[in-house]
Amino acid sequence: MYSRRTLIVAAGCALVLPYLLWQLPVYSSGQLDLDQRCQQQQNPSTLLIQPQPQKRFRVAVASHFGFHFDVYMALVWTLERVMARPDMQGSVEVFAEQPFGYQFHQIVDELRLYRGGAVRSPESLVAEIGTGEIDLVVLGTCEIDLRAEPSKALLAAWDARPNSNKFKLVCIVHNIEDTDWQLSIPEWSRRNAIRILPIAEHVGAAFRRSFLVSADSADPAIRSAGLENVPVDVHVPVLDLAVEANRDRARVLANAVIQGSFFSDRRDYHKIFAELNESLAVDPKVWGYLPLQDNEASYRVDTSLQDPPFRLFLIGSGYIEIPEQLQNVVVIRDGLDYPEFYALMSQMDICVPAFSSEHAGEYYDSQASSTFAMAVECDVPILVTERIKKSYTYVDDRRAVVTRPAAMREVEALRALRAGDVSYFLRGAGIVADSPTAQTAQRMIRHGWVRSAEESRAFKESIWAANERVVERILRDL
Ligand SMILES: *[C@@H]1O[C@H](CO)[C@@H](O)[C@H](O)[C@H]1NC(C)=O
Repeated sequence: MYSRRTLIVAAGCALVLPYLLWQLPVYSSGQLDLDQRCQQQQNPSTLLIQPQPQKRFRVAVASHFGFHFDVYMALVWTLERVMARPDMQGSVEVFAEQPFGYQFHQIVDELRLYRGGAVRSPESLVAEIGTGEIDLVVLGTCEIDLRAEPSKALLAAWDARPNSNKFKLVCIVHNIEDTDWQLSIPEWSRRNAIRILPIAEHVGAAFRRSFLVSADSADPAIRSAGLENVPVDVHVPVLDLAVEANRDRARVLANAVIQGSFFSDRRDYHKIFAELNESLAVDPKVWGYLPLQDNEASYRVDTSLQDPPFRLFLIGSGYIEIPEQLQNVVVIRDGLDYPEFYALMSQMDICVPAFSSEHAGEYYDSQASSTFAMAVECDVPILVTERIKKSYTYVDDRRAVVTRPAAMREVEALRALRAGDVSYFLRGAGIVADSPTAQTAQRMIRHGWVRSAEESRAFKESIWAANERVVERILRDL
């Protein structure tokens, strides 16, 4: 019996075959194309879509850079998972300075991110490539790892290998505005030997746009590199941390976090402080504090209340001054090791990206903030706007985010979530009760800030599955 789908494809083939023959040169280097499906069609016992064979088997994941191991070791973990499947095979080797900084090696061991186990010096990578066995090289931070000199050495190693045994380079990237290393891309593209692997979709989209522009360059030396064909995928570095269900979900929202280096140009710390200070002056009780007395500099916790007071955690590094009114409200934790960081982060009720609205264009368009992956892996919902979800498309899911209307500032949203009520915001901002803005605000309260452990788990599983599909594509050279 021919299935209905078989018949539909057969009819489709009859229609498109003449077109495909006409287009043959265009399709000849493509993935599994319709013409191949049509050939398979002649034998109804074969599956409609045969997976492309695996082409890459020995992977080196390497970096000279003393950061981002949480990003590239997450990829090592995905690679090993995919290679352990019955239909795939292969092995991964890591080349990086040891030990990983900030106690990350503990995480590698605990989560078994790298079953291969042995980490070699990044200096030995080129010699290892020379032995001819490695067929895929992943660089952890191409902004650093593929600058002019290292790129030259790797290219020489590529050129030295016989045509029948070349390797592919995979570039993990974070920020398209970091352009020095990008001068290395055309030589790799010319050899059809590079693919780009950012950690978030909007950075991928920025690279695709940039490649389309360069592919069309007035300079024939750039134009001939074929940049429009460089594959761009996204691998989201989310680990399977042992996050306990240690948050008491039955109480009011209490612990918010802004995570990241304390740079006031990218994150709106000062505006958030000012708004929090203002909101505390209006209604300290809703935040769990006593009114400020004349002789006091800082708000004090109202211990007569049952609910825990609100706290804003700043987890990251650097220096930032806290207004004295907020000394008991804002808590700074800097320079944490990874195990401490994950433990504290997973105590948080909500994560506030706090991108400064006008000057953080880079976090929306060109650079990936790691906050989202950090929050997702620690089961912390993220307070977002539509704008953020359009950039970080992988978190556009109710299980991962709390969506506020952009008209509602972060502090207003936190207050409304804590109080379970938006009327204060609507009155204050003069927003009509049945307007779309009001509806978004009401929906935010209705969905609340609590996500069950099962929801968070299911969401992470969807990210891991998407990561596996990306790694499959890379191993199949699609
Ligand atoms: C905090 O609010 C008080 C008024 O309640 C104001 O005098 C003070 O300047 C504010 N501080 C900051 C840092 O915004």
